[in-house]
Amino acid sequence: MSLKSELNEKKLFIDNEIDRYLPAETEYPDIIFKAMRYSVFAGGKRLRPIMLLAVCQMLGGDIKKASPFACAIEMIHTYSLIHDDLPALDNDNFRRGRLTSHKAFGEDIAILAGDALLGHAFEVMSKAVCDFKDMNCALAMYDIAYGAGVNGMLTGQVVDVISDGKKIDKNTLDFIHANKTAAMIQGAFKAGAHIAGADDKTVRSLDMAALKIGVAFQIQDDILDVTGTFEEIGKPVFSDAKNNKTTYVTLLGIEKSKERVKNFSEEAIDILKTFGEKADFLVELTEYLIDRKK
Ligand code: IPE
Ligand code: IPE
Ligand code: MG
Ligand code: MG
Ligand code: MG
Repeated sequence: MSLKSELNEKKLFIDNEIDRYLPAETEYPDIIFKAMRYSVFAGGKRLRPIMLLAVCQMLGGDIKKASPFACAIEMIHTYSLIHDDLPALDNDNFRRGRLTSHKAFGEDIAILAGDALLGHAFEVMSKAVCDFKDMNCALAMYDIAYGAGVNGMLTGQVVDVISDGKKIDKNTLDFIHANKTAAMIQGAFKAGAHIAGADDKTVRSLDMAALKIGVAFQIQDDILDVTGTFEEIGKPVFSDAKNNKTTYVTLLGIEKSKERVKNFSEEAIDILKTFGEKADFLVELTEYLIDRKK
C-alpha cells in the first residue's frame, strides 16, 4: 500500500473513533457540541493520533487500547489550534480550510469549545484507564498531559506569544519549537510506546526521535507560512509576519531552514531504523514530512 493510502486509511479509522467519543450535536446545549465537532472534523492531518497508533503497533501493542488516547491527543491538539487562532493570540480567520472557530461561533463559544475539547480528552482518557485497569494506560495519559501542559505545548505557546514583535535568539526559538510543537508529538510517541508495554530505554529513544520530528515539523510549518498557498495549508499565509514573529525563516532564510528540517528528520530516521523493518511506516512518514506541502 502507498503511504498516501495508508495515511488515508488510518485517518478514516481515527475520524470514526473520534466520532464515537464526541457527544452528538443534538445534545443540549447543542452550540458547544457543534463547535467542538466543527473544528475537529474540519480536516486535520491527524498526525499525532496516527503516530501514537503507529508506535503502539510497531511495538506489538493493542490498537483498541490505544484508540481512546489517539482520539484524546487529537482533541487536545484541536483545542490548541482553536485558542492559537483567537484574536488575543495569532488572530487568524481560517483554519483547516474553513473559518476559525471564533469567526464561525464567536469568541465566547470558541474559547469554551477549546476548553471543552481539553476537558473531554481527559474524560475519555481517564475512563479508558479505569476500564482497562492498566498502569501502562495511566502512563500514556501522563505522557499526553505532560506534552500538553506547563512542561510542553502550553509553555511553548506562552513564550511564543510574549515574543511577538521582539527579536529573540535561536535558543529561545528552539525552546518555543520544542515546547509548542514537539512536546505533543513526544507525547504521542511515548503514549503509544507505553500502551504497548515498552521498557524505559525504548521509550527514551522514541522520545528523542519524536523531539527531532517535532522540531522539524514546526520549522516546516514556518516555511509553509511563507511559501505555501491558502489552498494547500488551509490557513492564512504570512500569519507569522503579520504578528512580527521570529521564525527560522526570519533568522536563517528559507534554504538554511529547509536544510535544518532535513537534518533533524534524518537524525530521527536513524533512531527509528534501530527498530528494524517494523519502523518502515514511521520512517516513510518522517521522510514524507520533510517536503510536506500541507
Ligand atoms: C498545526 O499542526 C500546528 C502546528 C503545531 C504547526 P498541524 O499541521 O498538524 O495541523 P492539522 O492538525 O493538520 O490541522
Ligand atoms: C502553533 O504554532 C502551535 C500550537 C501549539 C497550536 P503556529 O501558530 O505556527 O501554528 P499555525 O501555523 O497557526 O497552525
Ligand atoms: Mg501560534
Ligand atoms: Mg498560529
Ligand atoms: Mg505556523
